[in-house]
Amino acid sequence: MAEQQHKVCFMTGGSGRLGKQIASAMAREGYDIFFTWHSSHAEARNTLEAIQAISPSSAMVSCDISNVDEIKKAFAEFQARFNRLDLLITSASNFFGTPLPDVTEHEWDRLVDTNMKGTFFTMQEGASIMRNQNFVSRIITITDIAAELTWKNFAPYTASKAAVQHLTRVFAKVFAPSILVNSIAPGTFTINPEWNNGQELDDELANKIPLKRMGDPEDIIRTIRFLSQNDYVTGQIINVDGGRLLS
Ligand SMILES: NC(=O)c1ccc[n+]([C@@H]2O[C@H](COP(=O)([O-])OP(=O)(O)OC[C@H]3O[C@@H](n4cnc5c(N)ncnc54)[C@H](OP(=O)(O)O)[C@@H]3O)[C@@H](O)[C@H]2O)c1
Repeated sequence: MAEQQHKVCFMTGGSGRLGKQIASAMAREGYDIFFTWHSSHAEARNTLEAIQAISPSSAMVSCDISNVDEIKKAFAEFQARFNRLDLLITSASNFFGTPLPDVTEHEWDRLVDTNMKGTFFTMQEGASIMRNQNFVSRIITITDIAAELTWKNFAPYTASKAAVQHLTRVFAKVFAPSILVNSIAPGTFTINPEWNNGQELDDELANKIPLKRMGDPEDIIRTIRFLSQNDYVTGQIINVDGGRLLS
């Protein structure tokens, strides 16, 4: 395989709402993108079409990241196509309410196996490629400011995101100086369609945020751009939340 000229980004969750915007933005930044999807084939195709218009070598793979064998297969396919890994973005995640007294084992496994276990083994696979390269590469985990909050109806989700923030720091320490590992913790960007009753909820949420608006995907993308260019930041959790954690 000829030496690739373009930088390459492996990203989980390219079929997601923020995920698609991030993948497209990184393609515009000049990266070839290899992204995973799980159940949303139409959204994944849509993301792929958008990024292939900019970066024709980009590709996608179906992968249930709660299953370590599937993660390994996705990375094997990645390595059959690309001979470098500059940036790993872990965006795939499950999010749904689990009122504390009624959390089932199945709900716990769906949230924690995807968000925490899946992210850990994705980072492990990514780092095993990156550590053998002769240039600095980067991992960015996408977590949530809720990792620092005590939402009574989301404990498995918030615990999984807090765990990923912890893992971010451990990976940063273990793989320095060759891999820079940071996390972006978004505040409120999108609302699950089933909870959205229109402008009223948007306004109510915006009012709770010191900067008086919900996040725009570009707010995350600018932060990814910063982390992908900076050489002296590692092990950090960057809250991109319009000051939401202050209120
Ligand atoms: N959107 C927000 O307001 C917000 C706020 C705070 C934090 N975040 C974080 O930002 C990141 C991106 O959010 P988003 O808006 O793109 O989320 P989203 O629209 O809910 O999409 C979730 C993504 O995760 C993938 N996924 C879920 N379970 C999976 C599994 N078992 N295996 C592989 N992939 C799986 C989905 O793939 P399929 O759909 O193909 O199954 C989809 O690509 C997430 O980590 C989220 O927690 C978002």
